[in-house]
Amino acid sequence: MNRRPRRNRKSNVVRNLIQETSVSVNDLIFPLFLIEGKKKKVEVNSMPGIYRFSIDTMLTEIESCLKLGISSFDVFPAYPESLKDSVASESYNPETFYLKGLREIKKRFPEICLMSDVAMDPYSSDGHDGIVKEGKILNDETLEILSRMSLAQAEAGVDILGPSDMMDGRVGFIRNSLDENGYTDVSIMSYTAKYASAFYGPFRDALDSAPKFGDKKTYQMDYSNAKEALIEADLDVEEGADFLMVKPALSYLDIIKSLSENYPLPIAAYNVSGEYSMVKAAAEKGWLEPERAMLEVLTSIKRSGAKIILTYFAKEFAQIKL
Ligand code: PBG
Repeated sequence: MNRRPRRNRKSNVVRNLIQETSVSVNDLIFPLFLIEGKKKKVEVNSMPGIYRFSIDTMLTEIESCLKLGISSFDVFPAYPESLKDSVASESYNPETFYLKGLREIKKRFPEICLMSDVAMDPYSSDGHDGIVKEGKILNDETLEILSRMSLAQAEAGVDILGPSDMMDGRVGFIRNSLDENGYTDVSIMSYTAKYASAFYGPFRDALDSAPKFGDKKTYQMDYSNAKEALIEADLDVEEGADFLMVKPALSYLDIIKSLSENYPLPIAAYNVSGEYSMVKAAAEKGWLEPERAMLEVLTSIKRSGAKIILTYFAKEFAQIKL
């Protein structure tokens, strides 16, 4: 044998020399859940180690993440049922706790990268991402609401908007309203290929945002399909997206790879709630080592072509890297 691949694995130092992929805190965006009130920090049942914070405790949390090197955050609101309606009015009410919270975060930590989610579901009494009429999700009528929501979030100081609703044409529509209103510096990270997935379950618990009827299959993509992701990416590029995102991540590494090979824009992947909770649940049972599983998960997502990873593991990852 004159070829022995094991020679390049013979010691830790040699393995480090040939290591092609490594994840850094700079690659990560930490999703956080905001609730109304004061001094609240409530663990999400189905996501051990992940909390819903009121604004005061969230500021403390962000501060401790910054010390660990995490400086990008995606903040999602959890609204009580009483504030939801069929047209998501609360989403662009400037006095709503979510927009006030975003403003406070940005004022206290102007140096961070603050991301928000654009979709109707946290504010919708139907639990859908668009307006519902006779059991159908209306596309073009929803764009108006998404645009108002986007302007309100831009006004609050958000750096990156994340349209997660999957309505057709929303990236261009939002880009135009941002530009017309002087927000040319606000970026759009499009949820380009967002699949209708069982892995969003724990997130919907965190937000109490599960659809009240039916599913999201008329707007989120069918997981049997890969080529559709290229159509969505073409449109997002034409419409002015700054980043393309694939979601979920783990069952979609082929999609991440395909977008990263076909588009020069930075690719992001959302390592979603169910993917986090699977590892945590198995770890609680003592069935796997959570730290090793986390590193393998994050590294595989990056290896497949994602530069940016939205992940609930962000803080834990940063802690072990210190
Ligand atoms: C809202 C939204 C969802 C997630 C991010 N934004 C849920 C959904 O579409 O039902 C899921 C995130 C996760 O599971 O971690 N449109």
